[in-house]
Amino acid sequence: MKAKAAKESLAIQTKVVLPHETNSLGKLFGGALLAWMDEIAAVSAHRHAKRVVVTASINHVSFGEPIDLGAIVTLEAKVSRAYSSSMEVIIDVFVEDRITGARHQSNQAIYTFVAVDQNGAPIHVPELIPETEEEHKRFLAALRRRQLALVLAGKMKPDDATELKSIFKI
Ligand SMILES: CC(C)(COP(=O)(O)OP(=O)(O)OC[C@H]1O[C@@H](n2cnc3c(N)ncnc32)[C@H](O)[C@@H]1OP(=O)(O)O)[C@@H](O)C(=O)NCCC(=O)NCCS
Repeated sequence: MKAKAAKESLAIQTKVVLPHETNSLGKLFGGALLAWMDEIAAVSAHRHAKRVVVTASINHVSFGEPIDLGAIVTLEAKVSRAYSSSMEVIIDVFVEDRITGARHQSNQAIYTFVAVDQNGAPIHVPELIPETEEEHKRFLAALRRRQLALVLAGKMKPDDATELKSIFKI
């Protein structure tokens, strides 16, 4: 299976925050943002694997700041590392200033997707090649996040999480 560059998995979506997606303070519901992130991350994982993908875990979400009703929100998702059947996808969320057009990052999330066959069984995905400095950083750090997710899910013994242990070793 031919390895693929990280940039091939880039998926971008722009949304406007509508009234039914906000709370009584006029701020975007966290659950609505999670659903948007899940959708764009699935597109990104699909672009890498070209197979059906399912969400295996949400490893990290930061709701850095509230997002207002009417805000223009752009989500950018890219696969940061691929393993045997699973892929880590990082979603960066940006809010655009309605007057100046300048944008700043408001949120970030990290999801794991697994490529599956027609019976829902995991299948192999291509290796991922990081190219930019940021892609390399994310690729390296992904292994720690994978081990943490698997330990928390009870799928890896803490003793086998060598990357995690190396952080805490004195
Ligand atoms: C995700 C799923 C396909 C994994 O299947 P499984 O039989 O448990 O498979 P395995 O334990 O062999 O793991 C397969 C891969 O998933 C990864 N994985 C499984 N659980 C994980 C978790 N909690 N976090 C991160 N990765 C996970 C494994 O590390 C493995 O990756 P690798 O092949 O790259 O090494 C299966 O649990 C599933 O279908 N879950 C429901 C998915 C779904 O419906 N999501 C939508 C929300 S309800």
